[in-house]
Amino acid sequence: MVKVAIFASGSGTNFDNIMRRVKAGELSHIEVTALYTDQPTAACVQLGEQHGLTVHTLSPKTYQNKQAYEADVLSKLKAEQVEWIVLAGYMRLIGKTLLDAYEGRILNIHPSLLPKYKGIDAVGQALNNGENETGSTVHYVDAGMDTGKIIAQRTCPIYKDDTKATLENRIKALEYELYPEVIQQIIR
Ligand code: GRF
Repeated sequence: MVKVAIFASGSGTNFDNIMRRVKAGELSHIEVTALYTDQPTAACVQLGEQHGLTVHTLSPKTYQNKQAYEADVLSKLKAEQVEWIVLAGYMRLIGKTLLDAYEGRILNIHPSLLPKYKGIDAVGQALNNGENETGSTVHYVDAGMDTGKIIAQRTCPIYKDDTKATLENRIKALEYELYPEVIQQIIR
């Protein structure tokens, strides 16, 4: 069993999907030790509890700086003997403290065909730019924003009558297949 921590900041639907796959026996070599979130009121917290997981809610603003925040996160990861970190809608850059400990063992999923449309509102950026296709990318995490080595991508069309919500749903449907597949292949 490989011990994995999942980090999320928002609705947590990718997190929920991964947990369902684990429970269905599709990711049988993975043990999710805990959910880590920087957003105490986010929906992912409730999902984590529903899955019976430990939820670490750590608010960065209550620490002196990013280094102190990440040092606390790292102490919890170490106590749980976490080997890999899976980011699933975690809205913060990973800093030096966590990168030094886990670089090459942190995955992220981003809703665009990287290197296009890094950063926030990638879905809106692709839509507003008149693209006719977009998709999702899983990549290793480095110090940049969505700049790490690309592992896998999946594409979907953008239709003329798409809104951000319809496009987001289409991309998430891709992500629910793509992320578990990559986790299965890469996390060993
Ligand atoms: C996903 O689209 C993912 O690509 C991005 O953030 C979104 C998270 O959505 N990094 P959810 O919280 O899993 O629903």
